[in-house]
Amino acid sequence: MELFLDTAEVEEVREIASWGILDGVTTNPSLIKKSGRDFKKVIKEIAEICDGPISAEVTAMDAKGMIEEGIELKDALPKNVIIKVPCTPQGLIATKELSSMGIGVNVTLIFNASQALMAAKAGAMYVSPFVGRLDDIGHEGIDLISQIMQIWSGYPEIKTKVLAASIRHPTHVLQCLQLGTHTATMPTNIFRQLMKHPLTDSGIERFLSDWADVEDAGNA
Ligand code: G3P
Repeated sequence: MELFLDTAEVEEVREIASWGILDGVTTNPSLIKKSGRDFKKVIKEIAEICDGPISAEVTAMDAKGMIEEGIELKDALPKNVIIKVPCTPQGLIATKELSSMGIGVNVTLIFNASQALMAAKAGAMYVSPFVGRLDDIGHEGIDLISQIMQIWSGYPEIKTKVLAASIRHPTHVLQCLQLGTHTATMPTNIFRQLMKHPLTDSGIERFLSDWADVEDAGNA
């Protein structure tokens, strides 16, 4: 089971990587825009902090352009960078070609199980179904994960990993993992929330206060 960070903020990657549990990072053009920084510089810095797969997304919409961009990114960036392409017919062509060259591909913007299956057949290393964006339009995003995992379980020859994306809260993460999702990518605040419990905080407070009493009493 892999936990990825969905961000283009290098300091956030540094923070979560320092916990020792970060398996990879996903970015997208919107996250790069939000960072206000140069795309390749950001990806390079992230890839130097986290040695797992780092997704860098192409912006060409035709297969030829996606393949060229993918190759260019692979040449310019550290070797743990993988290429993210949109789930379109052109994206499938690019996935097939890049994968056959040994380049890892993450097929993104997946909203139904048939898209996931097609991307897997094209040789994707990861398929990224978007949970939260389906919730946003009144669907149950988790149902898509369930459907994909059910299909995957019937075809052990599928080696593509299911990467649950557009995760909006800790329950999404746990639901995805209960369904056997290989990977979940989430923003930094969700990593923090996954580690947070008020009883942990109050428990620490009580232990420290009791220990201070022990020290005051000279029994330490
Ligand atoms: O990286 C893609 C994805 O996780 C997007 O999430 O919250 O913008 O729907 P969101």
